[in-house]
This record gives sequence, structure tokens and C-alpha cells, in this order.
Amino acid sequence: MIKKCLFPVAGYGTRFLPATKSMPKEMLPVVNKPLVQYGVEEAIEAGMNTCAMVTGRGKRSIADHFDINYELEHQISGTGKEVYLDSIRNVLDNGIFTMVRQREMLGLGHAILTGHSLIGNEPFGVILSDDLCINDGPGVLSQMAELYKQFRCSIVAIQEVPEDQVHKYGVIAGEPLKDGIYRVDSMVEKPDPKDAPSNLAIIGRYILTPDIFDIIRDTPPGANGELQLTDALQTQAKQGCVMAYKFKGRRFDCGSVPGFVEATNYVYENIYQKEQG
Ligand code: UTP
Repeated sequence: MIKKCLFPVAGYGTRFLPATKSMPKEMLPVVNKPLVQYGVEEAIEAGMNTCAMVTGRGKRSIADHFDINYELEHQISGTGKEVYLDSIRNVLDNGIFTMVRQREMLGLGHAILTGHSLIGNEPFGVILSDDLCINDGPGVLSQMAELYKQFRCSIVAIQEVPEDQVHKYGVIAGEPLKDGIYRVDSMVEKPDPKDAPSNLAIIGRYILTPDIFDIIRDTPPGANGELQLTDALQTQAKQGCVMAYKFKGRRFDCGSVPGFVEATNYVYENIYQKEQG
């Protein structure tokens, strides 16, 4: 039902400097696959075959990754090495990739607004590919797409975090309905632990209804002087139509070095080695 997924991939990735000086953080590999490809595979699995990328300067390799490399194809065609291209060929066969550039990094809300021309007037998914989500069953975005059918509202994925971590996240206050689903009353971006309404932190998976674009346009800059998606979602929540969902699966904060290392070890032990037999 939801066909498009937006990938804001324009950020600087300063926490990974100097690795990210001339290379997008979304192209950092977790074992043998770039972060953004994990995100794209999750979107395609959820039926969102159109992957709309909000890129920026220095991010050209992301566009190249989701295109054919004829020289490489020619070189390894018919050899035993072709198997290494299986996953990306599968993505290219099933996905459509559109791109727009965010000229100034004015925050996640601004990145989403920049993607409006690629999304149009329909509900859409959002994946922040530096949050790597892994589940044995349906992926996190698939789980959320199922919920959307029921509620027809914006949905944020949440997880419980220790109280001393809440200042890193958008945090929700809400009424529990059932099975890890909350109706959101309010949300706040990067709160002081003493002001945090809960320890339910928003992670990098969303389903958004298209009215969010006009709301972002009317939202003033918030925390860090950036246009915050959380502030726009807060307006939607006041209108009664934002749900929060405690997803099934594991999430690794690959935007931070410790989270990235943890994800690498996990994927190596639990996925890569099994694939290698
Ligand atoms: P982050 O703040 O985690 O990413 O933004 P960052 O700025 O790249 O990382 P650090 O803090 O400097 O290490 C969350 C997501 O939003 C995107 C980023 O690419 C990331 O996926 N983003 C953020 C944009 O696309 N545009 C922006 O203006 C801000």
C-alpha cells in the first residue's frame, strides 16, 4: 500500500571522521554490505520499492552503488565471483532509485521537506540507515506498514533506552493501547533526563502521512537550530494522529562508533558466517 521510502543521507557523519571526510557514512560497510543497502533491502521487503534518497555534496558514491557497474559486471561475468554481486543485483532488480540534493544541512525535518518532490502527496516510509535494524521475522518497516493499514496515522518506531541516554533521542509520552503500540500525546527532541516524559526513544524508522510536509514548512528551527522532524510530529500528535510502536528485532546505532562495532560483530557472527556455511 505504501510504495515509497525516503532515505535522508545528506548528514556529515562527523562522528566517523576522518573516515567520512570524502566518503558517505551510509557507505560504511557492516561486514561486506554498506549501511544504506541494509536500509534499502528493508524498504523493498516492506513493499516500498521506490527508494527516494535525499543526498548532498560528496555523496555521489551512494547513487553509483544503486546503479550498474558495467566494467565490473563484464570482468566477473561467468566467474565464481559473481555470487558476491547477488545481493546488490537483487536490490537493483527490485528497486527504483530517485535522488534529490539537500543543499544545506538544516536538520532532519529539512531533509524530509527536501524529499517532498520525490514523494508527492502520499504516505511514505523513512529509514535513517545509520540505525541498522535486524529481525528474524518481518523487518521493522514491514511491521510498521502492517500497522499503518490499521491506524492510517504517522507511526514512529520506539525502543526503551536507559535514562542517561534519553538526551540523544526524540522521546514520546503516550497512552499504551496494546502490544507495544502507543497513541502519542507529545514528544520532545533531546530532552534533559529530568524533563524527559519517558524513556521511550524514537529510532530511525517512520511512516509519515503527507500532511507532514506543510507542518514542517510551518515549524520553526528547534534543538541545535535545526529543523526537527520531532517538532513537526509533535504538531501531528496534538491533532491525535501519531502512533508509536515498540518494534520486534534488534537495532544498532551505527551512527556511533560503539554501535557500529557492535553491529559488525553481530552481523559477522549471526548472518555472515551462516551465509558462508
Ligand atoms: P545525524 O545527526 O545522526 O547524522 O542525522 P549526521 O549529522 O550525519 O551524524 P553526526 O552527528 O555528524 O555524526 C540523522 C540522519 O539524518 C540525516 C543524516 O544523514 C542521518 O541519516 N540528515 C541529518 C540529513 O539528511 N540532513 C540533515 O540536514 C541532517
